[in-house]
Amino acid sequence: MTFENIHACVFDAYGTLFDVHTPVSRLAAQIGEPADALSQLWRQKQLEYTWLRSLMGAHADFWQVTGEALDYAMTRLDIQDSELRDGLMAHYLALDAYSDAAPALTALRAGGRRTAILSNGNPHMLKSAVSSAGLDEHLDDLISVEEAGIYKPHASVYQLAVDRMGVEHPAHICFVSANTWDVQGGAHFGFTALRIERAPVPDDNIPGAPLARITSLEDLPALIA
Ligand code: LAC
Repeated sequence: MTFENIHACVFDAYGTLFDVHTPVSRLAAQIGEPADALSQLWRQKQLEYTWLRSLMGAHADFWQVTGEALDYAMTRLDIQDSELRDGLMAHYLALDAYSDAAPALTALRAGGRRTAILSNGNPHMLKSAVSSAGLDEHLDDLISVEEAGIYKPHASVYQLAVDRMGVEHPAHICFVSANTWDVQGGAHFGFTALRIERAPVPDDNIPGAPLARITSLEDLPALIA
């Protein structure tokens, strides 16, 4: 299977290009037994807070939401350590990139496709993650939801990519995410949406289905005709 008329490949950031469990992994020895639970709960609450704030019409940027989610997770797991909190947040600005990211981006651009990130992250977070992982030279654009003032999966966020990439139709964008609800949101919007399976979880029971699934981003260039 190949997809035609793709002018740009647009990637989700957190969970797709970058491993969101990096901060807790790096400080796991300091956290001890609740490390895994902390990382899972932090991520889950971070996403929930984006959806809740979007529904409430009470937007705050992803740095604030990420900190508030961490505070919740630490409270719930009875971890009181402000130095640890600051350390985890600092590591969030320098997440590990998945090893398939750079080779895939390089191949896509060699094939004439533009590449970009479309993420909940604020511009500073995205710039920092991309430059610390050495991905800046492989990306043409970093698009933040801050321009829309609401979070994924709101259509106005996905529309930012259409406008910034200058394509006539969303289907001319290959949108790649490891977050099931995000790739499904992108598919529902009209992107040529592909799921990268970073975790063996089923799709969500919401509208929108990915057009293809890959297990490594390195399989992506061959799918783009
Ligand atoms: C992002 C979230 C979904 O990067 O992780 O937009």
